[in-house]
This record gives sequence, C-alpha cells and structure tokens, in this order.
Amino acid sequence: MNRENKMWSGRFDSTMAKSMAELSFSLDVDKELLEEDIQGSLAHGKGLVEAGVIGKTEYAKIAAGLRSILADAKKGKKLWNAEDEDIHMAVERVLTEKIGNLGKKIHTGRSRNDQVATDFKLYMRHKTIDILDLLSKLQKTVYELAKKHAGRLMPGYTHLQQAQPIQFSHYLMSIFFALERDKKRLSNFLSLHNECPLGSGAMAGSAFSYNRKTVATDLGFADVSANSIDAVSHRDMALEFLSDLSIIGSTLSRYAEDMVIWSSSEFGFLTLHDKFSSGSSMMPQKKNPDSMELIRGKSGRLIGNFTAMFTLAKGAPLTYSRDLQEDKLPVFDSAKTISVCLQVFREALETAKWNFENMEKRMLPALLATDLADLLVEKGIPFRDAHRIVGNLVGIAAKQGVNFTELPDEHWKDIPKAKELRKKLTFAYSVSRRNIEGGTGEKSLEQQLKKAKVILEG
Ligand code: ARG
Repeated sequence: MNRENKMWSGRFDSTMAKSMAELSFSLDVDKELLEEDIQGSLAHGKGLVEAGVIGKTEYAKIAAGLRSILADAKKGKKLWNAEDEDIHMAVERVLTEKIGNLGKKIHTGRSRNDQVATDFKLYMRHKTIDILDLLSKLQKTVYELAKKHAGRLMPGYTHLQQAQPIQFSHYLMSIFFALERDKKRLSNFLSLHNECPLGSGAMAGSAFSYNRKTVATDLGFADVSANSIDAVSHRDMALEFLSDLSIIGSTLSRYAEDMVIWSSSEFGFLTLHDKFSSGSSMMPQKKNPDSMELIRGKSGRLIGNFTAMFTLAKGAPLTYSRDLQEDKLPVFDSAKTISVCLQVFREALETAKWNFENMEKRMLPALLATDLADLLVEKGIPFRDAHRIVGNLVGIAAKQGVNFTELPDEHWKDIPKAKELRKKLTFAYSVSRRNIEGGTGEKSLEQQLKKAKVILEG
C-alpha cells in the first residue's frame, strides 16, 4: 500500500497490515452511499463558501469535479481502487486527481464522523421515501382487488379453525390498514430523524463557524443536530429504520403464510401465477408457492439485521468508535430486502387466481354457530345460556359426524322459533348482520373502501 496516499501518513511510521486492511476497508459496502456522499460534500462546500473558507470559483471547480464523479460512476466507469479505504476517502482521492490539490479543501471543517453520519441519514431518508411509495402501491393493489371481489365469501379463521363467515374483501382490506400503520411508522420516522449532523466535526463541533442551518436545508433536513457528541454517536435512527422494516417484513410474512396455506391442495383458495411459483427438481406435479415462502423467510433476515444493529450499537463507547462502521450492511440489506418483498408481494397478489368456489365449498355450517347464539339472544335468552344451548347442538352433531344445521328437529327443542331461525341461518345472513364499523358486512366494507380511497388520494 502506498503510504503517501494515506490521509494520516503524517502520524504513522508503518503502513497497514494486509490482514488489517481486509478487516478495515469498507468500500465494497459503503460505495452504496456515493450519491449521498456527493450531495453532502456539495452542501458542505457551499457552506464553506458562505463562511469565506473557500472561494466561489474554487467551489465551482470542486462542485463540477464531484458531479463528474457521480456521472462517471453512473456510466459504470471504474473509479475506485484497492487502496481506497471507504467511499468517503475514495471520492476525495478521485476528486483530487481530477481537479488537483483544491480537492483536498473539501474536507475542511469536517470529519468522516459527521460526514458518514450525514450520508447515512440521507440514505435512510431517501430509502424510506421509496419504501413508502412501494407500500402505497401495494395498498392500491389490495384496494382494487377488494373492490373488484366485494361480495365473495370465505371462511374466516382463528387458531386456523373455521370461525365466522367473512367477505374475502374484508380480509384483503385488513392488509390495507396494517400497511397504513407501517406507513405511519415510516412517516413518523422521517419527522423524527430530520437533523443534519454536518458541522459536528469529529465530535466537538467544527472550528469553522459556518451556517449549519443553510447546509441542512440544502440537504432537505428540517434542522441541525443540537449536540455534536450526540450527532456523531447515535445510531438510534438506524435502529428505528431496521425495526420499522422488520415490522413491515413481519406484516408481509403473516399474510404470506396465509397465502402458502391457501395455495395448498387442502385449501385450494388460491393459485399463484407460474411467475411467482416454482417447481420441484424431482416431483413433476409440484408447483410451490416460493414467492410467499421467501417473503416469509426474508422477514427472518430483516429481524437478523435489526438484531445485529442493536448488538453493535449498545456497547460502543462515545463518541465514534470503529464498530459503528458495521452499521451499514444491515441497513443496506434491509432496505433492498423489504423493497423486493413489497414488489413481489404486490405482483403476486395482482396475478393470483382466487378460487372463490373452493372458498365457498369449504365453508362449514359450524361457522354459523355464533349467529344462532346471537339469534337466541334476540329471543330474550341470556348470551351465556344461548352459548351453552348452541354448544350442545354442535357437540351432538360432532359426535354424530354431521353439521349441527342438519340435526333433526328433536334436538332443537330448547330453541324457541327453531324453524324460523334455522331458515335464517345462511352465510350471507351472517355477514349481513355485521355492518358495525370495521365489520365484514356490505356497508362496513363500503365504509372501509371509502376510508381507503381517502388515504390513497391523500
Ligand atoms: N468508514 C467509516 C465508517 O463508515 C468512516 C468513519 C471513520 N472515522 C474514523 N474516525 N475512523 O464508519
């Protein structure tokens, strides 16, 4: 390694061991921050001009150099070399090669500590905006499907046992509102983590007093960080980002699990498109719901990234310790992982075939037990008693291996107006009784769709 190139060569007698370089160099990972690093340097440079630290023409050259680095990188030009420790040093080296010694001025009043904190924050903010967009797109898909299939019934489950009849669209809209909370969490995240660290220097604040507020605004932050120690040390923004993404992952995972179950031949509620399934290398008949299984699996990976970040952040002494370099990979990986999961989940839902006949065929009359108890309550029987009476009926039916609705009249003796009630007991009737706000009834569903429309248009 060429020692002269190293930024701290003044202080050191020996170059870095090869093994140490392998442990230390992070370019392969943090080159992901290139765009944010250039943006940060452009804003920082502007601040230095206003503070009179560098001249306007100097800045113009620096800015042009920085922009050309980004343009070159986008064109796929090979810019980095094996001696670049990280993206921040790599950009400075290339800049200096492009515009000469002037390039070395960009780091005035800045440390990699506030630089990296700024880049990283910008990155998470940018990714959050992209993820919010993906969440909205998925919500739109769910909403359209729910509108299209309103009126189709299916068994609703608790404990994976048939519980009550529901509209299929009611189930779909549960995804919509869960995603809405995921979106709110991210919006909250954006408003909470909106302070720019630049100007904090290594940890005590820069000695060049420049207008931090202008620099922050330039980068799209609402404010500047209030304390330089906190600004370069804290990683709770990353923790929260990873936590929010893990929660989205677990939302998707639960629904993916249902889709896996539904696409089994035992259920047969759903046929995923071939594009989102795969076959078996051995069993020719197999069509597996791999897309959903992978989404379920990736949620484990998201939680792993969150855990890694938590473990890393909890013990590093203030302010900056090198451990913190390890914060990038989990964040980059989770941002990518959740994005692809959201996309696949949406496309898989859009292209899936929903087998409504099977859903209806599988609905057991036992789904109506609660409705019968409710009807008895309407005839003046206290709910506990009604529950017991219907429970008895269902118990007898189970022993005889029939549905309770099929039991002969002699078993319905305790039930007032049994004939009338038995006629009433249909799945459609059960659903129609649930027009309470948030319920599965037709009007409730309309209300949900209306709420959703307002959210989507908002
Ligand atoms: N590559 C480092 C990181 O990502 C940059 C900060 C280095 N700072 C330092 N004081 N060594 O965390």
